[in-house]
Amino acid sequence: MSELRIAAAKRAMRYLEGLNERGVAPDTAVVARLAELDIPLPDHPSPADATVAQLDSYSAATMAMAGPRFFGFVIGGVLPATLAANWLAGAWDQNSALAGVTPLPAKLEDVALRWLRDVLGLPPETGVGFVTGATVANFTCLAAARHSVLAQAGWDVEADGMFGAPEVAVVVGEEAHPTLFKSLGLAGFGRNRVVRVPVDEQGRMRADVFPNLSGPTIVCLQAGNVNSGAFDPAPEIIPKAKAANAWVHVDGAFGLWAAAAPFKAHLLAGYAGADSWATDAHKYLNTPYDSGLAFVRYLVGSVRLFSSRLRRSISSYDCVDSSMLLGIVTHFSNGCRLQGTPF
Ligand SMILES: Cc1ncc(COP(=O)(O)O)c(C=O)c1O
Repeated sequence: MSELRIAAAKRAMRYLEGLNERGVAPDTAVVARLAELDIPLPDHPSPADATVAQLDSYSAATMAMAGPRFFGFVIGGVLPATLAANWLAGAWDQNSALAGVTPLPAKLEDVALRWLRDVLGLPPETGVGFVTGATVANFTCLAAARHSVLAQAGWDVEADGMFGAPEVAVVVGEEAHPTLFKSLGLAGFGRNRVVRVPVDEQGRMRADVFPNLSGPTIVCLQAGNVNSGAFDPAPEIIPKAKAANAWVHVDGAFGLWAAAAPFKAHLLAGYAGADSWATDAHKYLNTPYDSGLAFVRYLVGSVRLFSSRLRRSISSYDCVDSSMLLGIVTHFSNGCRLQGTPF
């Protein structure tokens, strides 16, 4: 069996080493061959090495996202260190719900959290859920927000659900990312019943028309508009929201990493006053794709619930460990330059 894994690793290495030579787009001839996969469920197993070889034969039907010439979206290709750590985590195969049972993942998660808090300038009491991406990070943070604002209104949402619960006002910018609306829908807030604050020409929430708040309220700010790079004006909005006892959530899928770069950290002035922050590790932390971070100032049960600890925390740990702050700043500046991130 170890030959199988070594052969698979060699195939993966060949794939990665070929990224500079091949086209970035999927090879149309290989894409056409994907129809071969449309077969009925076989009665009998296939030899494992044949399955790996077959999968590899389709590898040119991928988009070369792991390589240096893919400039789509706001994502970074996986770093060698984070991919290697991810492979190791796969081999360990830990169900890491309990620190006493699986101490290593628990430790890595704690250290990764401490380092990430430092990198991002988040308050020391902040906890984290290692989730799949920013959509789920937003959802996870919104579930924590829902718990908190309803608990303050005397309602236990996990026990009693949303039917008959006190109404929660949700305030977002007109140009919030489409996936935030998806997360709001999943969290039971609805996509259409939210209050949308008008934005300026950069898609930045306009503080001068920010509504008066009362009752249980969640305000969603955006740190990094995906079209313009603009940041909502936290120094003006967060104090108003806090004065009304609202929960402030930040969608910082890629923009939160600006905190790591001394020349851009000013963009996040005031953001540490929020209650939760969602970001992607697969963006400027360059972990494997399936990796997002849900930071919540006061960790509540729901955050842990969505967190798959080992696989993602070890990639984050390894990236910070192998890059250190200087490396993260470099990934960030290169990313801004090469991808044309408009900050
Ligand atoms: C501002 C913002 N929010 C949320 C997301 C969704 O991220 P993901 O694809 O990791 O779920 C993105 C993706 O680019 C984004 O830019």
